[in-house]
Amino acid sequence: MSHTSSKKRVFSGIQPTGNIHLGNYLGAVRHWVDSQEQYENIFCVVNSHAITIRQNPQELQNKTYELAGILLACGIDTKKSHLFIQSQIDEHAALAWILDCNIPMGDMSRMTQFKDKSNKNPKNINVGLFNYPALMAADILLYQADFVPVGEDQKQHLELTRDVAMRFNRDYGECFNIPEPMIPQVGARVMGLDNPQSKMSKSAQGENHAIFLLDSPDVITRKCKKAVTDSQSNIVFDESRAGLYNLLCIYEIFTQKSRKSIEAEFEGKGYGHLKMALAEVIIESLRPIQQSYAKISQDKTYIQSVLTKSADSIRPIAKNTYENAKRLVGLV
Ligand code: TRP
Repeated sequence: MSHTSSKKRVFSGIQPTGNIHLGNYLGAVRHWVDSQEQYENIFCVVNSHAITIRQNPQELQNKTYELAGILLACGIDTKKSHLFIQSQIDEHAALAWILDCNIPMGDMSRMTQFKDKSNKNPKNINVGLFNYPALMAADILLYQADFVPVGEDQKQHLELTRDVAMRFNRDYGECFNIPEPMIPQVGARVMGLDNPQSKMSKSAQGENHAIFLLDSPDVITRKCKKAVTDSQSNIVFDESRAGLYNLLCIYEIFTQKSRKSIEAEFEGKGYGHLKMALAEVIIESLRPIQQSYAKISQDKTYIQSVLTKSADSIRPIAKNTYENAKRLVGLV
């Protein structure tokens, strides 16, 4: 079954835990904003996924609205795209149950993220953490999505989604569109400032690891100054010098200057100079987002009303798929 809209439908799920950082922005959010004409985008803040790890309830609520507000501030426009909170639409959890009953234990047991996460959280290995991919499959299948942007770590979950959908269609009758992975554009892989060997991550601990979208100018400057480089001194794009290369790539993306002209700009200058110039560019680039966020978040009910409206407009699609699945398996 597929939808009738002329644009391809893309479903993105974003967890409201941790803080959204420069790597998320340059690697994903910026492209989402730019693709709003080309695709019918559905952005879902997946708060029900977040509780597979124990959360402070008040903080989870705050983070959920904060993330939605930042996405709006970055330019997600609910006149063109959908943006809502997973728990606003009951059909996610309800469809996950039907899928649960159609996923073999063996398939679910192969999910490597469960193993990683349970190793990291040995005190709270709960059934939801194990079942998490069924809820993710429900998110995607409810909306008959054509594409799902996935990083390496989520590929296996999308494969499981496709498998359960194909099996369901075959065994009970046509119900779900089979989604395809959307491979992210290369070139915007932002690395940790304190450890340029690993990707900038929401969950890394170091206080100078990531620049968050809401960081103040002072904090951005401090983090840039502390960024790990090397003991050489010339400033050139050289992938083998990971720390320097990362800083230059961030500079390149924000300034949109050519590599040649960037190298010329910093010829004969030291790392300190580059770091200050980079801080300046990041501060200026984030300023409009931060200003917009400050405005949006002044009125607590504004973000809520935008999300509610968007959820109300898309709920019929979820209901329709769910009712169909329910009927096909014989639930009344
Ligand atoms: N599992 C994803 C992550 O950890 C988040 C997610 C939940 C998701 N549901 C989704 C991503 C649906 C894409 C589609 O990042």
